[in-house]
Amino acid sequence: MKYDFQTFHLRRGIEAIKWDSIGNQPDDVVPLSVADMELLSPPQIISALKETAEFGMWGYTWWGERYGKAVQHWMRTRHNWEIDPAWIVQTNGVVQGLYAAVRCFTQPGDNVLIQPPVYYPFRRSIELNGRKTIENPLKLVDGRYEIDFDDFAEKAKQAKMFILCNPHNPVGRVWTPEELRRMGDICLENNVLVVSDDIHFDLIMPGYKHTVYATLGEKYAQNCIMLTAPSKTFSLAALCVANAIIPNKELHQRFYDEVNVSGCYTYSIFGVRALEVGYTECADWVDELLQHIHSNYLYVKNYMAENFPQIKVFDLEGTYLCWFDCRCFGLDEKALEKKMVEEAKLYLDEGYLFGKEGAGFERINLACPRNVLEKSLARFGEAFAAYKQ
Ligand SMILES: Cc1ncc(COP(=O)(O)O)c(C=O)c1O
Repeated sequence: MKYDFQTFHLRRGIEAIKWDSIGNQPDDVVPLSVADMELLSPPQIISALKETAEFGMWGYTWWGERYGKAVQHWMRTRHNWEIDPAWIVQTNGVVQGLYAAVRCFTQPGDNVLIQPPVYYPFRRSIELNGRKTIENPLKLVDGRYEIDFDDFAEKAKQAKMFILCNPHNPVGRVWTPEELRRMGDICLENNVLVVSDDIHFDLIMPGYKHTVYATLGEKYAQNCIMLTAPSKTFSLAALCVANAIIPNKELHQRFYDEVNVSGCYTYSIFGVRALEVGYTECADWVDELLQHIHSNYLYVKNYMAENFPQIKVFDLEGTYLCWFDCRCFGLDEKALEKKMVEEAKLYLDEGYLFGKEGAGFERINLACPRNVLEKSLARFGEAFAAYKQ
C-alpha cells in the first residue's frame, strides 16, 4: 500500500470525545465506539491544513466556487451523480442538517419515520424538536436485514418525513436501487419527504455499489434532502463540514433559510480546505482505506468463526462499523455491557443504543490499525472464554 493505515496514534488528552469517554486506561485499550477513525487523514489534507494554519489569519469563511466544483467533481466521479453546486447548503455537520430538516419541513406533533436499529440521533432530532417518531423496524431474514415493506407502507400513511440511513448505521446494509425505489414510491404516494443521510456513502465494500437516492430519477430527486459529508471518509469530524444537497429549488431555499435562522453564517476554513483537497486529490487514498477496512472486517469475521461460531457477524456492505450478534451468550443487555467493559475492556457501541431491536448486539469500529483490532479481539476472547466453542 502507498499509504499508512497501520501506525497507532494515541488520542488521549486532545479532547477526543471517544477517548475521554473511557477515562484513564492502559495504552492498548482503544475505544472502538464512536464513528471516527484511529487513522491519519490523507497526507494531502494534512499538508493543506498546515498551510492554512501557517497563514495565521482565519476570518469569516464562506463556501465558494472552488468548493462547489470540488463537491460536484466528487459526486460525479465517485457517485455517478450530476449536481449543480447551487443545490448545496453547507452545514456544520450532518446532524445539524437533520435537525434543520425536521424543523423546517415538519410541524410540532408530526410523525417522522425511521428504521431501527438506527443511528440514535435520528430519534433525538425528531423528539427534541417536539415531533413524534414512528418506526419501521428492519427485519432479519436469513441473517440479513431487510425492509418490511408492508409495514413501511402502513407507517408512511401517518408520516410527514422519512429519515433514510444509506448505508445503514449500524447494520451495514447498502440499499439496492430496487429497495430505494420501492420506499421512494411509497413516500411519493403518501406525500412523505425523504431525508437521506448518506454520510457513509464513500465507505462501500468490494462487491457492493452505493446508489444515491436522488439519482433514482427526477421525481425522487425533487422530493428529497440529501445529507452528505467528507467527515467519515477522510477523518474530519472535528472540522465541522457537511453538505445538504437539495435539487428541489423551493426545498433548497426553505432549508437554506432554516440554517440561517439558527444563526449559522460562517464556516470553518479548515473544513472548507479539507473538503476541497479530499474531494479533488484523495480518491486513491480512499481506495486504499477501503481495502484496509475490508481486510479488518475479514479479520473480525474469521476470528469469530474460529472462536465463537455461534456469533453472527453481519455482512459488511458499507460503513466501517461492523455489527455482530451476541444474543447467543444469553446475557441481558446490561450484563453484556458490563462484561464487555469491565472484563474485556472493550468500549464498543452497545446495540441497545440504536433501539430495542439492537439489544444483545455490538457494533465495532474497524477504522483502526490491525494490531488494535487484534488486541481488542484477544481481550474479547479471554473475557468470554467460557463461551468458546
Ligand atoms: C448515519 C450518521 N449520520 C450522521 C453522523 C454524524 O454526522 P456529523 O458528525 O456530520 O454531524 C454519523 C456519525 O456517526 C452517522 O453514523
